[in-house]
Amino acid sequence: MNTFYDNMELLPEAKTIRDLHQKDMRSAREKLFMFLSGWLGGPYRYIAAFGHLRLRARHLPFPIGEVERDQWLICMRKTLNDMPIDHVFKEQLIMAFTQTADYMMNQEQAEG
Ligand code: HEM
Repeated sequence: MNTFYDNMELLPEAKTIRDLHQKDMRSAREKLFMFLSGWLGGPYRYIAAFGHLRLRARHLPFPIGEVERDQWLICMRKTLNDMPIDHVFKEQLIMAFTQTADYMMNQEQAEG
């Protein structure tokens, strides 16, 4: 999942969310890996290290609206597209990430 944050750093269309992250994204990289390990059915590394997930609460300090959600999903979609995984599995992952990213939104949408 390092590629995900590489994409976030490289893609101009992800700049808004890149700037929400700390300059040094090493801890974010490590934490996303630990989280996804459990989320994908592997060892629960994140819970073991940091306790209960509270993923939405942990994102409340950052303003996340549609723009931010879409940028996050652009990075994840590019990451998955560059991985040699089965097409159906990829679509299932994208659906699951979309649901989780929707749930992470905490800003009212702009009018119109
Ligand atoms: C929807 C748009 C999202 C935005 C804008 C966003 C942004 C952020 C930011 C700014 C951080 C703090 C990183 C740092 O310390 O530098 C963070 C942490 C994290 N994000 Fe997201 N995120 C989003 C969605 C998601 C989703 C969908 C997942 C999981 C599938 C996720 C998993 C995590 C994890 C595990 C952390 C580490 C939490 C901790 O501090 O322990 N994020 N995110």
